[in-house]
Amino acid sequence: MWVKKIVREDLNLVEKYRYGKPIQELQRELGFEKIVKLCSNESPWPLPDAVCEAIVRGSKEVQRYPEPGSYFLRKIIATKWGVSPKEVIIGAGTEGILHSLLHAIINPGEEIVLPTPTYPLYKLAAIAASAKCIEINAKDEDYWMVEDLISNCSEKTKALVICNPNNPTGKMIPRSELIKLAVELESKGVLLIVDEAYAEYVDDPAYLAGVELFRQVGRVVVIRTFSKIYGLAALRVAYAIAPKVVVDAYDKTHPVFEVNSIAQKAAAAALAEEDHVREVRIKTIAERKKLLESLRELGMYTISSCANFLLIKHPKSDLIFELLLKEGVIVRKGSDLGLPGHLRVSVGLPEENEKFLASLKKVLTSVEL
Ligand SMILES: Cc1ncc(COP(=O)(O)O)c(C=O)c1O
Repeated sequence: MWVKKIVREDLNLVEKYRYGKPIQELQRELGFEKIVKLCSNESPWPLPDAVCEAIVRGSKEVQRYPEPGSYFLRKIIATKWGVSPKEVIIGAGTEGILHSLLHAIINPGEEIVLPTPTYPLYKLAAIAASAKCIEINAKDEDYWMVEDLISNCSEKTKALVICNPNNPTGKMIPRSELIKLAVELESKGVLLIVDEAYAEYVDDPAYLAGVELFRQVGRVVVIRTFSKIYGLAALRVAYAIAPKVVVDAYDKTHPVFEVNSIAQKAAAAALAEEDHVREVRIKTIAERKKLLESLRELGMYTISSCANFLLIKHPKSDLIFELLLKEGVIVRKGSDLGLPGHLRVSVGLPEENEKFLASLKKVLTSVEL
């Protein structure tokens, strides 16, 4: 009886997050020294010296608690986007921000609308905050119809979470659609939460940064992370631009010392390295294009992407995933991301992409036998 009663029943509605396979795990299993990890969309490029130095500086202060308000980082981000520091949240990754944010806004019985397939963490964070999830599936691999999303918001809907560009499809919502969505949600009193983890990789002029919506429409929360183009995934730091009332509520739900001092210093230093970020962006976009062309030459059905990963459709995707592991290459199973029959591959360093393509070629010969 105790076993049945002790944990929350609604947690049965969701599976725990299936993360990309860690390098160390595959090394333990297969004894490889060199692994190519293309499963978590991290930045593979080395960090600039100034960021490494900031990490060392921060590491000398770890006997003290970090500054809970992340004063300097918050100020830098406010200046970067032309908003007030009172409209900025600094949190322990997008993940940390989402959990505390949803805890700050959800009342019992309220709903979160989630266009799917998308980053599975939204559902986990929503259920953890006791929200009811309304999932709206995209038609094929097309983006969701904005009208569909709007019509599924009821008087119980508190927020709609959208990923732009989306993980795992790599597609973005064009400017006009996003404005339509934001304006309609504003009129319905629904908070629009836009996760822009991959915004820096978009090279389509039809993209609209969420902060513009925040300025124009207001009832919007935009989340950006330091885990992707800034290369700080292990330090767990992200930020959000949000209405002050939301920031004030967030301040009551988040773990007080959630952003450590190394992360605060490294993130501030990373933001200052604009040339480095520009360079990583250009190199990633060039590699993405090369990888897409090579995959299509191999006959793989691959969707063009605005982010630092590509989505491949293949009926034997799980088998290909397993065989690639044996070659020392980790990609991501679509089934982990709500899209069975697909593989997601991050854009790596040129030599990593080459190793992936060579291994894939080899694997495909046995898969197609
Ligand atoms: C859509 C999306 N948002 C955010 C993140 C990054 O999260 P975090 O900032 O918690 O590292 C990822 C990483 O895979 C992602 O795919």
